[in-house]
Amino acid sequence: MKQDLIAIIDLGSEHNSSLARKIRDMGVYTEIYPHDISAQELLALPNIKGAILNGGPNNIVGGHPVDVSSAVYRCGLPMMAIDHPCILPTAEPGSVNVLKDFVFNVCACEKNWCVENFIEDQVELLRKQIGNRKVLLALSGGVDSSVVAALLIRAIGKQLVCVHVNHGLLRKGEPEQVVEVFGKKLGAELVYVDAADRFLDKLAGVEDPEKKRKIIGAEFIRVFEEEARKLKGIELLAQGTIYPDIVESGTKTGHAVKAHHNVGGLPADLKFELVEPLKYLFKDEVRACGEALGLPSDMVHRQPFPGPGLGVRCLGAITRDRLEAVRESDAILREEFENAGLSGKVWQYFTLIPDVKSVGVRNNARCFDWPVIIRAVNTVDAMTATPEYPDWALLSHITDRILTEVPGVNRVCYDMSPKPPATIEWE
Ligand code: XMP
Repeated sequence: MKQDLIAIIDLGSEHNSSLARKIRDMGVYTEIYPHDISAQELLALPNIKGAILNGGPNNIVGGHPVDVSSAVYRCGLPMMAIDHPCILPTAEPGSVNVLKDFVFNVCACEKNWCVENFIEDQVELLRKQIGNRKVLLALSGGVDSSVVAALLIRAIGKQLVCVHVNHGLLRKGEPEQVVEVFGKKLGAELVYVDAADRFLDKLAGVEDPEKKRKIIGAEFIRVFEEEARKLKGIELLAQGTIYPDIVESGTKTGHAVKAHHNVGGLPADLKFELVEPLKYLFKDEVRACGEALGLPSDMVHRQPFPGPGLGVRCLGAITRDRLEAVRESDAILREEFENAGLSGKVWQYFTLIPDVKSVGVRNNARCFDWPVIIRAVNTVDAMTATPEYPDWALLSHITDRILTEVPGVNRVCYDMSPKPPATIEWE
């Protein structure tokens, strides 16, 4: 293994993730382990250099004092116990030095955590886990599944089979990009399933947002399952699980690292062994890994996109013509934000169309068309959000383009609502 490791032992701190980030920012790899890890398990971790007991006041786990000292002390590794003030934003500058001193002087770690070393280690580990077996991956084209695909192509090449289900609710150009990048450029074994009609037929006339979400989720699993059954003899399923998915937030401790979870909600009789090569990476590390593996920048820096896709932006019962208008207007917005240098600055932006028409006038005749609503927001964690204030001239230019280029649209509005009380999406 290329990287030194510091183990964070979770004793009930809600700041495990921030502590992990602090240490990784110093160039040293770290992982969080539950408080009941044994001395043998700790010592068996590759390149382990030291352990940090990260606890709340009095080392309380789940309301009970615990004796972690025996396992960790007995293993003979350099050890430090902290009560998390050194990682809080309010921490005195000196406290970070204490952490640095422990990592570099006491544990003698080297600054050898970087994505290149991570990739090298993962390739080795993946080859060991997979052997000559085949691996299946649901490749959505989102950041995580794309990076998993690129990593697995590097490690096992044609033993990876990617299935890309186009549910007809993707943004303009997305399915084509998946085929271009993975099927052609990276030479992956790619099964492209055009299931747009199937999804849209199922969704016809369904107005309730929750019902729409359920239909899309369930149909996705059905299509994927059908494809998986056609591909006989595959034992492994790759997933884009990332570290924040498995590190519990809050103080429900003692379970800092969850057992594997079946993210896709696949039926239990599809028995797969899981391959989750990104499960120790934070989102920005996943992106850096994707760039190092040669994925296009726009794929790696893609903004968040809900699983139900444009289905939740074509409000109410989805119709094909209104869905196309959402897709086209969204493409114009993305292109213009990109040209204006806003694509890396604004957290999320998109268009949506409500199931409402208004009167207008076009070519000296009355028209009765939809409004396009533009939503652009900034946020840290998507729990609260504030609207972006784009330049009027830019908004006016985008409006002109949408009104001339997108059929069936006669108005463009800008959503100024913060979250709360509004949510980011409309459905
Ligand atoms: P809201 O609308 O709740 O959205 O403010 C917060 C963030 O979550 C995204 N979002 C979803 N992501 N599946 C997803 O994977 C979904 O069903 C879903 N709904 C909302 C949304 O785009 C925003 O970034």
